[in-house]
Amino acid sequence: MSKTYASFISIGAYVPSKILDNKMLEEMIDTTDEWITKRTGIKERHIANENEYTSDMGAKASQQAIERSGLSTDDIDLVLCATVTPDYFNMPSTACIISDKLGIRDVQAFDISAACSGFVYLLSIAKAFIESGMKKNVLIVGAEKFSSIVDYSDRGTCILFGDGAGAAVISATTDKDKAIIDIHASADGSYSDFLMTPAPGSVNPASQKVLDEGLNFVKMKGNETFKLAVKTLTKDVKNILAHNNIESSDIKHFIPHQANYRIIKAVGDALKLEKEQIVLTVHKFGNTSAASIPMAINDIYELGRLKENELMLLDTFGGGLTWASALVPFAGK
Ligand code: ACO
Repeated sequence: MSKTYASFISIGAYVPSKILDNKMLEEMIDTTDEWITKRTGIKERHIANENEYTSDMGAKASQQAIERSGLSTDDIDLVLCATVTPDYFNMPSTACIISDKLGIRDVQAFDISAACSGFVYLLSIAKAFIESGMKKNVLIVGAEKFSSIVDYSDRGTCILFGDGAGAAVISATTDKDKAIIDIHASADGSYSDFLMTPAPGSVNPASQKVLDEGLNFVKMKGNETFKLAVKTLTKDVKNILAHNNIESSDIKHFIPHQANYRIIKAVGDALKLEKEQIVLTVHKFGNTSAASIPMAINDIYELGRLKENELMLLDTFGGGLTWASALVPFAGK
């Protein structure tokens, strides 16, 4: 019997229409467009409406990914969502709500929490389910309403994050040329205080104290995270390329997590990548956490820059701390 591989057959995304640009932030906090642009590369980010939730954005991105896959919702046999801004913090999972919004029933669905690394983590789970023969068509979704956990008086974080969603369909194939080549995913919990939302949770259940102290908002040791991100990402990407005997010049699209232009540039320089190989959306979407990589893939797809069989190198870093990289040929049309 021929071996079963997992292939990345389609992409979709959803970006909320409302824009929060640097000039608007200048009115809200002590910052400047010049500082934000120079330190992060971000010019604007999109913010969901009050009554637009993570699952709404995830469902819209999923609908597009499923349509582009040529499959129907009936073909999907696993729904996975990566988010740190779920509709509800405990239950039900956002994957269950997305499934319901898409009309997908009687199918396993669950969320994972790996912050910005969530989408690449999901890719590794989808690959394992498919290669083991347990599932055939897996819907993976990275969706975030990050604005729901941002303190808009904290200039160290509120300039960075935006909302949005991206989704992909990962399907079984026997064609090795279309197979996801490799995924490296890792974590180091000893850095968990670099990036966290202290509440709500078993450590700090909802209380007046949580609200008074703003423990429900994202907290980040920005500079420490920045330095570790550059070091870890560079090492991780070099490892996955060497492990698979692939040169950086063989990569058509380097698609890093869109957190900060300076991090992306430092990793790109270390790999000696050409400008045309590096995908950038950080200027227009900011950091959308688990949605950042699929939104960036969708961006080049819609610009007509991503073609069938082109090799993508995905690379990400986020709260946990978590990090991951993946070598993925695009198997869509
Ligand atoms: N406007 C103006 N000044 C500011 C702002 C702002 N928005 N924010 C901070 N500053 C000031 C600081 O107060 C500090 O002033 P001081 O020197 O008087 O104390 C100065 O600028 C330098 O601050 P740093 O924090 O050292 O600035 P840095 O160059 O590190 O940039 C940033 C900050 C943009 C947050 C950067 O550290 C970064 O991008 N970090 C990594 C983020 C990341 O990759 N996160 C992981 C993924 S996210 C996830 O998983 C959800």
